[in-house]
Amino acid sequence: MQRLSRLLALISALTVTYAQTTSPVFGQCGGEGWTGPTICAAGSGCVFSNPFYSQCLPGAATSTVSSATGSGSSTSSTVSTPTAAPSGFVKTSGTHFTLNGKIFTPVGANSYWVGLNNYDAADMNTAFSNIAATGATVVRTWGFDEVTSNPGVAYYQIWDGPVPTINTGSNGLENFDNVVAAAKAHGLRLIVTLTNNWSDYGGMDVYVNQLLGNGSPHDWFYTNSTVIAAYKNYVKTFVTRYLNEPGIFAWELANEPRCTGSTSATSGQCTNPTITAWAEELSAFIKSIDSNHLVAIGDEGFFNEPGNPIFVYQGTEGIDFNANLAISTLDFGTFHMYPDSWGETGNETDFGVGWITDHATSMKAANKPVIVEEFGVLSDMVDVYTAWYDTILSTGLTGDLIWQAGSDLTNGETANDGYAIYPGTAVYTLDTQHAAALKARDGSA
Ligand SMILES: *[C@@H]1O[C@H](CO)[C@@H](O)[C@H](O)[C@H]1NC(C)=O
Ligand SMILES: *[C@@H]1O[C@H](CO)[C@@H](O)[C@H](O)[C@H]1NC(C)=O
Ligand SMILES: *[C@@H]1O[C@H](CO)[C@@H](O)[C@H](O)[C@H]1NC(C)=O
Repeated sequence: MQRLSRLLALISALTVTYAQTTSPVFGQCGGEGWTGPTICAAGSGCVFSNPFYSQCLPGAATSTVSSATGSGSSTSSTVSTPTAAPSGFVKTSGTHFTLNGKIFTPVGANSYWVGLNNYDAADMNTAFSNIAATGATVVRTWGFDEVTSNPGVAYYQIWDGPVPTINTGSNGLENFDNVVAAAKAHGLRLIVTLTNNWSDYGGMDVYVNQLLGNGSPHDWFYTNSTVIAAYKNYVKTFVTRYLNEPGIFAWELANEPRCTGSTSATSGQCTNPTITAWAEELSAFIKSIDSNHLVAIGDEGFFNEPGNPIFVYQGTEGIDFNANLAISTLDFGTFHMYPDSWGETGNETDFGVGWITDHATSMKAANKPVIVEEFGVLSDMVDVYTAWYDTILSTGLTGDLIWQAGSDLTNGETANDGYAIYPGTAVYTLDTQHAAALKARDGSA
């Protein structure tokens, strides 16, 4: 009895030792600073993703490669390239995107949460697998989470008073490495948004409050040189990490920048030119450090037509879509579409058809790509989206990303704000047909 339990303890210790020497499917198996296992579980191979990250992918045809970026010494591990992995950088040509001389059609979804909330690599892979099954090519996600105390889950920058520290650890940028690797494993490229107008996941108001004092005007984010320097520092660290990463489609300056934020604090001095000037400075800054990737704002696409009866055309929020589209360091235009939040309830189809058509007109005038990168309605989704998709196809609008992808993960369904769409639903089927139709329109793969 005594000896048997000692034997069992020994077996159990050996099992633990064995588990520590192989990385599970979808686990990390290499990268700068990585001290964990470099051998992948049976049935998977170690695939180089970027200098900071290699990942065990299932079914990867294996070949032995000497990796200098493993755990210090030159490590022999099985490495391969999955056939679906993106390679090359997407460029623009007129109103299209191109890849290796062919039109590249951006179509897909938003998954802001995939690099937040401590989803593990297996959940990330499920999420991207669901999105890829619709024929998607691009996913938009959050590359920020500003905190003032350690939340115990993934975050990207922590503030101690006015001093920010970027989290490069396993629940920081290394976690984002997992996001990029999982997207690539499903042939998807990412639009990465680097801060938020809204207070979700921190955003602009954390910079302003920490650096300039609590309750400072939201719009000082765009004008105060101390704030701009801090934001540039974050952007530079993030962007530099992925300079040579084909899994990144584009950087975005902010989600939905406006003169006002989640608090009512404003200087009263923010106008459309304020954010246009900021977008010009920040996009030029990114271009100066990263010539591989595209840059956009991430705004809602408001027009500046004072007197127009419709709110989003009135130019009152700090965004002038056409002025911003003319900025040479911005590669494409973005807009969002939420008739239920914009006073157009009951008029969703017609409003959207007009909104898409008007942005397609700007697209052609500027001869730059434009995408509707967030859109949603709260009811009658299939009918409304069908009409909107028909308009996207017929106007030549460059592409679209629905808000927002839903998945059923280890801890249940992902966040649903009323707009989420889940696999197996009628909207998923519609999205699949739409992605195919858009690619057929463009003659892209
Ligand atoms: C952005 O600005 C608006 C005010 O225009 C504010 O109501 C909102 O909470 C802010 N954040 C988001 C995400 O909209
Ligand atoms: C930024 O804010 C700080 C603190 O209030 C202030 O000292 C500084 O003058 C501001 N800079 C600009 C350019 O507004
Ligand atoms: C619906 O939206 C269209 C396009 O913006 C607009 O022309 C029309 O007046 C709207 N109808 C109503 C009833 O608000």
